[in-house]
Amino acid sequence: MNLLDLAKKRKTVRKFKKEVPDIEDIKYAINVAKEAPSGKNDQPWRFILVSKKEDKEKIREICEKGEREFYEKSKGELREWLKKMGFSWKKPFLSEAPFLLFVYSHTKSPFSRESVWLSIGYLLLALEERGLGTVTYTPTNFKDISDYMGLPKEYRLEVILPIGYPDDSKPKYERKSLDEILTIL
Ligand SMILES: Cc1cc2nc3c(=O)[nH]c(=O)nc-3n(C[C@H](O)[C@H](O)[C@H](O)COP(=O)(O)O)c2cc1C
Repeated sequence: MNLLDLAKKRKTVRKFKKEVPDIEDIKYAINVAKEAPSGKNDQPWRFILVSKKEDKEKIREICEKGEREFYEKSKGELREWLKKMGFSWKKPFLSEAPFLLFVYSHTKSPFSRESVWLSIGYLLLALEERGLGTVTYTPTNFKDISDYMGLPKEYRLEVILPIGYPDDSKPKYERKSLDEILTIL
């Protein structure tokens, strides 16, 4: 499949099959991600893969505590959108996905966040290529999670990627047309 077809096929997945993917497929995706460009070629990304049931359950508990507070505080347009989408503070994918991939950026590197998110983009397409799905889950309480994970202070948690075989019937959302987003001068 060429890159455009892969990108068109990829969609966020929040429900996963129980079947555990081959860890080599995830390593493949990280191998792709580390080929991304980065500021000063510092390669400021760092990945931690979690698969133990107890760890995933604890992480879900910490995240859901933050989500509860976030949902209680949310109002206006955001609240309406969350309701329309059927989202709630419950994040079952954090314990149900066979793997959770934590992605960190090194805070002392130039453009570290931009660089790490580029690598995340590479990673999403590589997972798609291997038939795997994920959701770019950005928790509300990064600090509590980082404390639990015990990483050095110089690293910032960017995203948690629950990974597994997709079991989500949601459609691929439409994208704007090229004419709407591209100006050729
Ligand atoms: C930076 C970023 C943060 C996101 N954070 C979340 C999140 O915390 N929880 C979630 O369920 N989806 C999250 N998403 C997924 C988006 O909602 C999703 O990509 C978007 O609705 C488009 O859907 P698609 O990926 O299926 O095309 C995030 C996506 C991005 C790029």
